[in-house]
Amino acid sequence: MEYGFGVIGCGMIAKFHASAIADLPNARLVACFDSFPAAADRFAEQQNCRAYHDLKKMLADPEVHVVTICTPSGAHMEPAVAAAKAGKHVIVEKPLEITLKRCDKIIQACEKAGVTLSAIFPSRFHESSRLIKNAIDAGRFGRLTLGDAFVKWFRTQEYYDSGAWRGTWQLDGGGALMNQAIHSVDLLTWLMGPVSEIGAVTDTLAHERIEVEDVAAATVRFQNGAVGVIEATTAAYPGYLKRIEIHGSEGSAGLEEEDIRLWDFKNAAEEDASIRERMAGKTQTGGGAADPSAIGHHGHMLQFRDVLEAIETGRKPLIDGHEGRRSVEIILAIYKAAEIGKSVQLPLKNDPTLKARSKKKSDMIAAADAANASPSSEPVQEETPQTPTEPTNSHDQPAPETLKASNGDSQFQGEVAQ
Ligand SMILES: NC(=O)c1ccc[n+]([C@@H]2O[C@H](COP(=O)([O-])OP(=O)(O)OC[C@H]3O[C@@H](n4cnc5c(N)ncnc54)[C@H](O)[C@@H]3O)[C@@H](O)[C@H]2O)c1
Repeated sequence: MEYGFGVIGCGMIAKFHASAIADLPNARLVACFDSFPAAADRFAEQQNCRAYHDLKKMLADPEVHVVTICTPSGAHMEPAVAAAKAGKHVIVEKPLEITLKRCDKIIQACEKAGVTLSAIFPSRFHESSRLIKNAIDAGRFGRLTLGDAFVKWFRTQEYYDSGAWRGTWQLDGGGALMNQAIHSVDLLTWLMGPVSEIGAVTDTLAHERIEVEDVAAATVRFQNGAVGVIEATTAAYPGYLKRIEIHGSEGSAGLEEEDIRLWDFKNAAEEDASIRERMAGKTQTGGGAADPSAIGHHGHMLQFRDVLEAIETGRKPLIDGHEGRRSVEIILAIYKAAEIGKSVQLPLKNDPTLKARSKKKSDMIAAADAANASPSSEPVQEETPQTPTEPTNSHDQPAPETLKASNGDSQFQGEVAQ
């Protein structure tokens, strides 16, 4: 069967979804929706699909079987739940959502509707990640002892200023961890198993007018007894490829983006030499380390293929809603541990209350504007009247407050402010 896709949220990552869909023989992009109609129109023209200005109408389109959610992170839940209720299969960009409660609402809606749900983590589909996972499952590491994730990326101040939602608790849900390093947090817990305890420090050191962290360091205890660290930043100039390192009593493996950099086992296997050689030059892009759009769409394509196979055969996709929720829980525990200066045990019973969430980017911008608006002795020039112009890129969005109102979710602020 050919599956019709509808994309919700037509910004930066949506283009990668369109490319991934185009690469699949049994998938076709048929529709798109954006709360900002001009963005939907532009995307539809570029991608040759139908633009909808009303989500309900897109969800009533019988040619749409699967929707992919590409809205800001804290605005994933509303369209995901609406799509499930309309009987569509749902693929949600990372993070699944920004609180456990909102993740659970998506999971429950999809289970109730009997539709497939998948949370996007393309790195799990890379051959290098799968080789390490297979080696762990085959017991080649002996006793797992250390599992580390290092995400030393760089984002300019302009990046955070480019979208009203970026760097806010309400719609980004966090900073270097929740937006950028979550790919590595997911990979680490997939490889090492569930986390039982976390200690952490976080801070905002090199950016202004953001509510969230741009640097974080966490110590981790896994349920299997192994320990590890998670380091994440968007303030390490110029930005380096992300790394994962797994160690055990009988073996070690290390990933730098898609390249295998360490592959050493006490009990050597015949394929080890070819793995070292073949997997040394896999990385084709900047991995998003310095430029968010310097990524490929191959991992997305492999994940979409897995989802379609899951729908067709009735099995679970590799990354279902529960899998997607795991990294969100770990990151929320890191935020809590950093705030209270003590270790936090997992699983979390509820969403942690975070005082940091009371910071507001809009207040910071207003304060900065007020500080800059010092009285001047220069003659005041008459302002040229501004004609409203059509926004030119996906970042020309309403402020988070407007987005929240347009979501029509009266509980939203209460939940996030917990
Ligand atoms: N997998 C990856 O590698 C990757 C990379 C980048 C971003 N992302 C994720 O994708 C999501 C979007 O990020 P982006 O960089 O594309 O953002 P973006 O700002 O470029 O695009 C978001 C789009 O969503 C639209 N929108 C906002 N609220 C909406 C709503 N309620 N309904 C419909 N449309 C709405 C905006 O108008 C905008 O066009 C985020 O969750 C982000 O974490 C994933």
